[in-house]
Amino acid sequence: MSNTKSRKKIALIGAGNIGGELAALCAHRQLGDVVLFDIPGRVGVAKGKALDLEQNSAIAGNDAKITGTSDWADCAGSDVLIITAGIPRKPGQSRDDLVAINLPIIRDVADNAKKHCPDAFIIVISNPLDAMVYELMRRGGFDAKKVVGMAGVLDSARFSLFLAREANVSVKDVRAMVLGGHGDDMVPVMSACTINGVRAGELISKERIDAIITRTRKGGGEIVELMGTSAYYAPATSAVAMAESYLLDQKRLLPCAAYLTGEYGYKDLYMGVPVVLGAGGVEKIVELTLTDEEKTMLAKSAKSVQGIVDVVKKSA
Ligand code: APR
Repeated sequence: MSNTKSRKKIALIGAGNIGGELAALCAHRQLGDVVLFDIPGRVGVAKGKALDLEQNSAIAGNDAKITGTSDWADCAGSDVLIITAGIPRKPGQSRDDLVAINLPIIRDVADNAKKHCPDAFIIVISNPLDAMVYELMRRGGFDAKKVVGMAGVLDSARFSLFLAREANVSVKDVRAMVLGGHGDDMVPVMSACTINGVRAGELISKERIDAIITRTRKGGGEIVELMGTSAYYAPATSAVAMAESYLLDQKRLLPCAAYLTGEYGYKDLYMGVPVVLGAGGVEKIVELTLTDEEKTMLAKSAKSVQGIVDVVKKSA
């Protein structure tokens, strides 16, 4: 028997639109072996996507194994779990409308994750994000440093893209951060937004920035209206950036939904804040100096998140 160290293992809980794209990206970036998990009624989809992607890897020359399953035992020993289990939005629905449907699903996932993958770093994508990641951590009794939610990277990417298009500059040079809850009152932090060090306000008028902020806040909904279901390419890429920072100990500073214990004045709440992600999980929560206007927006966003968390807590 070989005693060489095995590859990393990434379990993707939910083999739908985002799950499939996550598997493709993990294989392409050679992050490790991938397990695509779904409920028994959808195991054919999980297995089929896994097979298609392994054949794709044969062309690309990637050796990672990709398997589909509906048996949690196959996820045992995973280094990373990325959770998309649940139902996505349909046109006209808000993320909060999903709570009743996705809450029992997240509880089922939390129980199984605790049993089979107690040491994994967990990234939650299921919506309503801030409440689902809170419940997963609470229900599973996980170390909060090992459980994060993916929203800020995606919302910041949308914001950066719209700013870059408006200023007619490369998106690579835009530094933008969107904090707070993953809802319509998310907080684009203009005081920390630059185009390679140049304040965005020097290149874009206030009126246009305001329009871009509005479009960013409704960025997910814009896609739901067009496609009839929610986005999957950019959400998957966002979560893989977070997984990679953990697996490769990159210590990237990324906006993630993290468990707050007094930071920014909030306690016992998950919300988007800048964090350093490394081998220790959430190694640091960075506290930015916000303007009074930004603090007010963050308070409004926190109140919305708290409202849904309270609903979740009541039904515990
Ligand atoms: N365990 C595992 N998987 C589950 C469970 C469960 N208990 N319940 C449902 N699923 C699976 C579904 O069978 C489906 O294959 O989750 C998958 C979700 O895939 P899609 O419907 O394609 O949804 P997707 O677009 O991937 O979004 C998933 O992420 O962004 C959020 O709002 C979005 O909550 C939604 C989630």
